[in-house]
Amino acid sequence: MKLNSLLILTCDDGSVDLAQAELSAAAPDAVLLEELSAGVLLYDAGVPFAELAARWRAAPPIFVRHIAPVQAIAPLGGHAGDPAYLARTLPDALPALDPTLPFSVQTRILADVPYKPFDVNTTLAAALAGDNGPTLDVRAPQQIVSVACVSLRIWQPDASLMLGGAHVGRNKRLAALAGLSLAADNLSSWAGGMRRFAREEGQVSRAEFKLLEAFEVFGVELSPRGMALDLGAAPGGWTRVLRQRGQYVTAIDPGELDARLANDRGIRHLRITAEQYLQDEPDRFDVIVNDMRMDARDSARLMAAFARFLYPHGWVLMTLKLPEHDRQPVLDQAFAILRRAYRIAGARQLFHNRSEITVFLIPAQGL
Ligand SMILES: C[S@@+](CC[C@H](N)C(=O)[O-])C[C@H]1O[C@@H](n2cnc3c(N)ncnc32)[C@H](O)[C@@H]1O
Repeated sequence: MKLNSLLILTCDDGSVDLAQAELSAAAPDAVLLEELSAGVLLYDAGVPFAELAARWRAAPPIFVRHIAPVQAIAPLGGHAGDPAYLARTLPDALPALDPTLPFSVQTRILADVPYKPFDVNTTLAAALAGDNGPTLDVRAPQQIVSVACVSLRIWQPDASLMLGGAHVGRNKRLAALAGLSLAADNLSSWAGGMRRFAREEGQVSRAEFKLLEAFEVFGVELSPRGMALDLGAAPGGWTRVLRQRGQYVTAIDPGELDARLANDRGIRHLRITAEQYLQDEPDRFDVIVNDMRMDARDSARLMAAFARFLYPHGWVLMTLKLPEHDRQPVLDQAFAILRRAYRIAGARQLFHNRSEITVFLIPAQGL
């Protein structure tokens, strides 16, 4: 086994099969070594990490949320001295960091240990930065040292590194899996792809996080004082986020909007379905968002019908709800419907998506 082809792949724990299919398509020789925790899988990809990352940079997967290389495996004692031990050993065990690129350490704790990611991040980062090393920049790192503290099955009996790790149950030892990569190669610049947002005063729904994450992931910009259409708007989380960003929002939903949005004159709420609104000859919009709870193909059909009400410079963000069974064929059908009117500029299962994915669309004539 080559240590340059080991990686940790992370996806939503309800989409493991779909993420595995994406890995098999990109790296047909990939072998699953172990499920480290729900949706966190240790793989021998069969190709160097950088090669797989390059393939996915060109054509990103939908369900694989994050990848990180494993180039060093260090035993852990499961006590408070582990972070300092990692700071002493990992800098030499890992490839050298580029001194010109800002870096960060991203630790995930997937085992029962008495320290937090922050303890490993700070201790190891200080050792890596040293006196002449790269600058630490946790907000916009260009290179990332990923560390996962895990209980690992002893899948490689001759791995002498593993021998010192504390036993955790039968045939399992505590270990840190670590690797250095370019942030752009990890599919997300957040540890494990876990993009968390602080809860805000006045927040209407958790769905707001989905829209905020989508803005970031797809790099979309809202034009000042744009006209936005929010299909399936209730209780109004996405509408609130769009208003905060200066959009005038037409909110379509038979359901009620949160009372806190009632006095906002920048919101026009029509208590009708999207299908009914379509009959009304809608206005034209700079942005259409759609979080309607309905079959992905029906939602795609409606979205395609709304395409003529989108300005040529406009764009769409929508969720596609995944069925319990036949998820891939249903998605393929929904994509085929959307392609009649749009270019699919991005499709990802975001950290804040549960049984759904988020799709970013641009009008087909804008090609
Ligand atoms: C997940 S909620 C939307 C949450 C919203 N994005 C937010 O941030 O608060 C889904 C909404 O889709 C609406 N919906 C379902 N079918 C619809 C249809 N045909 N037309 C309009 N809205 C619909 C439901 O009434 C429900 O309020």
